[in-house]
Amino acid sequence: MKKLAFSAALLLGLLSVAAETSAQGFHARPPKQPVASSQVPVYLNDRKPIEERVEDALSRMTLEEKVAVCHAQSKFCSPGVKRLGIPEVWMTDGPHGIRPEVKWDEWDQAGWTNDSCVAFPALTCLAASWNREASLLYGISIGEEARYRNKTVILGPGVNIYRTPLNGRNFEYMGEDPYLAAEMVVPYVQGVQSNGVAACVKHYALNNQEINRHTTNVIVDDRTLYEIYLPAFKAAVQEGGAWTIMAAYNRYKDQHACTNKYLLLDILKGEWGFDGAVVSDWGGVHETPQAITNGLDMEFGSWTDGLTNGVSNAYDNYYLANPYLNALRSGKASEEVLNDKVRRVLRLIFRTEMNRRRPWGSLCSDEHYQAARRIGAEGIVLLQNKNNTLPINVDEASKKILVVGENAIKMMTVGGGSSSLKVQREISPLDGIREAVAGRAEVVYARGYVGDPSGEYNGVVTGQNLNDDRTPEALIAEAVEAARAADYVIFVGGLNKSAHQDCEDSDRAGLELPYGQDRVIEALAAVSKNLVVVNVSGNAVAMPWVKKVPAIVQAWFIGSEAGHAIADVLFGEVNPSGKLPMTFPVKLSDSPAHASGDVNQYPGVPRGDGSPILDEKYTEGIYVGYRWYDTKKIRPLFAFGHGLSYTTFKYGKATASAKTINADGSLTVSIDVTNTGSRAGAEVVQLYITDKKCTVDRPTKELKGFEKVSLAPGETKTVKFTIAKQALSFFDATAHKWVAEPGVFTAHIAAAADDVRSSVDFELK
Ligand code: BGC
Repeated sequence: MKKLAFSAALLLGLLSVAAETSAQGFHARPPKQPVASSQVPVYLNDRKPIEERVEDALSRMTLEEKVAVCHAQSKFCSPGVKRLGIPEVWMTDGPHGIRPEVKWDEWDQAGWTNDSCVAFPALTCLAASWNREASLLYGISIGEEARYRNKTVILGPGVNIYRTPLNGRNFEYMGEDPYLAAEMVVPYVQGVQSNGVAACVKHYALNNQEINRHTTNVIVDDRTLYEIYLPAFKAAVQEGGAWTIMAAYNRYKDQHACTNKYLLLDILKGEWGFDGAVVSDWGGVHETPQAITNGLDMEFGSWTDGLTNGVSNAYDNYYLANPYLNALRSGKASEEVLNDKVRRVLRLIFRTEMNRRRPWGSLCSDEHYQAARRIGAEGIVLLQNKNNTLPINVDEASKKILVVGENAIKMMTVGGGSSSLKVQREISPLDGIREAVAGRAEVVYARGYVGDPSGEYNGVVTGQNLNDDRTPEALIAEAVEAARAADYVIFVGGLNKSAHQDCEDSDRAGLELPYGQDRVIEALAAVSKNLVVVNVSGNAVAMPWVKKVPAIVQAWFIGSEAGHAIADVLFGEVNPSGKLPMTFPVKLSDSPAHASGDVNQYPGVPRGDGSPILDEKYTEGIYVGYRWYDTKKIRPLFAFGHGLSYTTFKYGKATASAKTINADGSLTVSIDVTNTGSRAGAEVVQLYITDKKCTVDRPTKELKGFEKVSLAPGETKTVKFTIAKQALSFFDATAHKWVAEPGVFTAHIAAAADDVRSSVDFELK
C-alpha cells in the first residue's frame, strides 16, 4: 500500500511539472490523466490472462504493424509496436553463453565494453553429466545472464541428434540418443524461462551436418523421424514448455525446414500443440508463399549484409515484410493466417518483455562461474585409467609435471561460429593445472604441435600470440626430452573451433586428430609411463594409440572454467562421473552414416537437374549411435554411456515388481548399487529395454531411463525405474502412432551400452 501511495504521489508530481512547463510557453499536448486500473487497456493489465491481452493487443494493431512483428528490423531484433508501447524482441546466441552485442546491421561485434559473459560448458559436456539438475542449473544461470543483458530470447539449446562424428556442430548438441537429449533439454528450457527469457530450441529438424546445410534435402522414413530425430524437440515443447523454436536450414520433403508444412504445421503446431513462435534460422527463408502458409512466424537474418545490400531497407524486403504486405493487400494472403503469427509473437512478448514479475538477472556472478565449473567437471569423462594413473597425487613421486599441447593454452571460447563468445575470463587447462598444484609441484610446458594459432571471430580477438615456426620434428623432440625428465605427462589436444573441426558451417574431413597429434602422443607414450591424454572436442576422435596410453580423459569445450574443471578431475578434487553421450568408434567406417561409404547416405548427392539441391538418404534408419554398434555387433572404441570413476561400483541383481505389465499399467525395476571403493563418487545407472520379439526390426536395446546416484564409500542405494508402455513402444509409421506389442521384454541395468550388469524379463499383456 505504502509503495503504491508513493508511486501515485510521484506520478502526480510529475504531472504538475509537465503542466507548469506548458504554462511557461511550451505547447505540449495535455498530459495524460492517471487512469483507474479498470481503464488500463487489457493488453497492459498484467492481472489479465495472457490470451486476453493477446487478443486485445491484436485488435489494436494495423496491418502494417502486424506484418512488422513477423520479421527482423536488425541482425538480432524485431520491432514491437512502438505506438502501443509493446517492446522489441531481442534475440541472442546461444547456447553456451550470451553473444557479444553486434552492430545493428552486421555480424561484427559492436565493441561494447560491458557485454562480456561467462561461457558455460558446451552442451555435449552438459549431456555427458547425465544430470538433470545440472541442466536446470545451467538453464537458470545462462537465463540470468541473458536477462541481465536485456535479451528476450536465447537461441538455444540445440538438440540435433549426433548422426555422424563429422558434423561440425555436434559440440552444440546433446549427443546421439533421443531419450538422453529429451531428458536433458527439458530442465535447460525450464531454467532459462524461469527468468522470463525464452529458450529457442534449435535446429528443428534434421540438421545433422553442416556441409551443404542450406541445400541438403533429407530423406528419412517416418519411423526414424519420430523415434530418433524428433523426441528431444517434442519434450522441449511439451514438457519444457519452450516459448520459441528455431527452424533449420536444411530441406525435408523438398521444402526448407523454415517453411516446412510437415514439420511446422502438421507436427509441431498440429500434433504437439505448440503455442509459441517459430523463428527462422538466420537466412533460412527463401520465398514468400511458403513462409506465409507453412507455419513460420518470425523471419530473421535473410540478408545478412543488412543495409548495404538492401534495396532501400533490407528488412522491408524480407520475405515476410513488404512482399507479405502486398500479398495481404491484394487479397492473396489471408489476415487470419497473419493473426495466428502475430498472436504467437505477442504471446512471446507477454511471457517475457511484458512480464513485470520476471527477475532482473545477473551477469558474470560468482554463482555463474561456480555453476560453469561444477557442470564442467561433472561432464568430463574418464575414458581409460590403467594402473590408476589418475588422479595425480601430488607427492614426492610426482613433483614434475609436463603439460604438452596447443589445447592446453588456446582459448576455445572464440570461434566455432554463432556460439562464439566474448568472455570475461577463460581459465586454460595449463593455468588450471598450475593453480591446482601451486607450491607443491613444478609444471613445465611444451607446445608439442602447432594447430591453428589464429584467434578471432567477428572482431572478438583472443589476443593470444600462438605462432611458432618450429618444425613438427623440433616440437616433438622438445616435448619428448621434457617428458623423460617428468613424473607425469599431460597431453592436452583434440579439436578446436576452426573450420573443419568443431565449427559451424563445415564438417570435419575425417575422424583422425588433426595437426599430427597422433605422432606426438605416440612419441610421448614411448618415454612416459604416466601419460594422460586429455581430449578437448565436441566429437569422437580416432585414438590409434589407445593401448599405449594409460589414462584418457574426454574434456569437451568447457568454457570459462575449463582449466579449473579439468584440474579438478586430474588431481582428484572431483571424482569423475561423466558418461559419453555418443559412441566413439574405432574408425569412421564403423559408424552408421559412413559404413556403406555411399555418398547418398553422407554427404548427399546433387540432383543434377541444375538446382543446388542434394538428396541425402538416412538409410541407416533408426540404427543411429549405439543402436547401430549393438545391433551390428561392432565393438566401439568407447561405448555410449561409458565413463569411469576413481571409485568402483558393484551392481546387485535387477528385480521387477511384477512379472507382467498391462497396457496402461507400469512396473518398477530395482537394483542395488554399492560404492565398493574408498572414495565418494557418483554413478550413472542406465536402463535399456529390449523387445524380444516384434513384428518390426528393433534395435538390440534402447535407453529408457537413467539415474545419477551419489554414494559414499561402502554405501548402497536402491535405484528404481518405472517402466510404462511408452518405454516399450515403437513408432508404427502406417498407423502413425506409437505401438507396444504384447510379449516379453528385457530390462537391462547397465553402466554403459556395452556394460550390462543385470537383466530381468517381464511381459506386456
Ligand atoms: C545459426 C544459428 C544461430 C544464428 C544466429 C545461424 O547461422 O545456424 O544457430 O542462432 O545463426 O547467429
